[in-house]
Amino acid sequence: MGQLLLQGLLWAVIFLGSSVPNIESSEYNPFPGITDKKFIDDCVRIHNANRSSVNPPARNMLYMTWDEGLAITARAWARHCDFQHNIYLKEVRRVHPVFSSVGENIWAGYPPSTFSVMRAMDLWVKEVNDYSYQSNACRPGKMCGHYTQVVWATSYKVGCAVQICPNGVDRTSFSDKEGAIFVCNYAEAGNVVEMLPYQNGLEECSSCEGANNQCQAKLCHDPKRDEQKSYRWTPDWDPTLATCGPCCMAILAIRPLALLLTFVAAFGVHRLYPSIFFYE
Ligand SMILES: *[C@@H]1O[C@H](CO)[C@@H](O)[C@H](O)[C@H]1NC(C)=O
Repeated sequence: MGQLLLQGLLWAVIFLGSSVPNIESSEYNPFPGITDKKFIDDCVRIHNANRSSVNPPARNMLYMTWDEGLAITARAWARHCDFQHNIYLKEVRRVHPVFSSVGENIWAGYPPSTFSVMRAMDLWVKEVNDYSYQSNACRPGKMCGHYTQVVWATSYKVGCAVQICPNGVDRTSFSDKEGAIFVCNYAEAGNVVEMLPYQNGLEECSSCEGANNQCQAKLCHDPKRDEQKSYRWTPDWDPTLATCGPCCMAILAIRPLALLLTFVAAFGVHRLYPSIFFYE
């Protein structure tokens, strides 16, 4: 009798210990993720194409490469579906594990099918028509900051993410319709006040800094600086971290306890009935 009871308890504990709550979000997202090769290539290639061909020409424009950390931050912010700058952007270590200054460009549109990296970046880059390099000024009432960030000489890392927003993108004129948001983050940050985005000069790469520089398509490319780095890091404000509700939290708390109980119970049963696990 006691043996049966113990056996029952044992099974109950094992069952509890192995129940796995589904904490993965089942959100539908038709867009490429931040590890998608084509997506990464589109983002990097279009940025560099525009950086190579600035007018007037640049002599210190750095080659831009992908950064996983920036892409992780861009994704976390895009998940908010809110058309405003990341509210943590100025807080060191909350938007990147290494870089202390991070810049940002955002595009939003609807329906989601209107998104492509090219289309979003077109809107940013065409601000050049309202921008004067000579006076480092933007036409009154216009925006030029997206353009100047794209061609900011010292911003040599970029990471972007695109997110579907089934309930609309906040702070847009289409916030009640299914839309999409595209975020790019940059390091070092551009758009430092009173500074020109790059140094003008006819001789491309003539002001590249560092001994390892190679001139690549008029851009300063340093293989060491441009190395790909991997970060096992998530910003603490990523909304997907908060999707575990009270019930899910309870199960998460019970699991290690149940596992411990399993061992204690098995040990106890074995001590009380040494032969229980042997069937002769
Ligand atoms: C700059 O980027 C846009 C994409 O948004 C592209 O259409 C354009 O061709 C690029 N400019 C150059 C010179 O590559």
